[in-house]
Amino acid sequence: MRAMKRIVILISGRGSNMAALLQAASAEQWPAQVVAVISNQANAAGLATASAAGIAARVVEHVAYPDRAQFDQALSAVIDAYAPDLVVLAGFLRILTPEFVEHYHGRLLNIHPSLLPSFPGLDTHRRALEAGVKVHGATVHFVTPELDHGPIIEQATVPVLDTDTEDTLASRVLEQEHVIYPRTVREFIEGRYALVAGRVVRHPV
Ligand code: GRF
Repeated sequence: MRAMKRIVILISGRGSNMAALLQAASAEQWPAQVVAVISNQANAAGLATASAAGIAARVVEHVAYPDRAQFDQALSAVIDAYAPDLVVLAGFLRILTPEFVEHYHGRLLNIHPSLLPSFPGLDTHRRALEAGVKVHGATVHFVTPELDHGPIIEQATVPVLDTDTEDTLASRVLEQEHVIYPRTVREFIEGRYALVAGRVVRHPV
């Protein structure tokens, strides 16, 4: 039997992508287990969801550290205690140091609520409406030191409707996030693609 892969998920808030991952991992019987969920915010709603699912829910508060480097070191120490094969950012609202990102090179994924390279950063749905784009969506990518710029693994598109508000557009995108994130994480676990020389290389099934 293949060894179970180990996944650590980092969150800062609601945790709906984390919940979608937990759900898929158990329903689809992934050859992987989520071994910990870690939040930089003690009041993140997703922590209760993780605990209820029987998963270690840890808090490493960034405000307890004097600078970004020391927070990232503390966070790494907690993550590495779980010996993960993959670290998944799911609404983790902290900019990470290049040292942190390098340490998890090729095994650090993020989901971003826009079609990168359009709209990196915050308020993506408002900015998409303001720009008048007709297509919007979400992107799963490997994390590199430059914020929201890593090699793209998968994207999902949604139409932007004339009647859309920030909220309606956000919820249509979120629905797609909950489809593509579990799928790409599962494919990573199955070794279907990897980061090779800065590009995503797919392996035949
Ligand atoms: C999602 O839109 C995700 O793309 C972005 O932050 C949001 C997190 O939502 N990175 P949730 O905490 O997963 O519900």
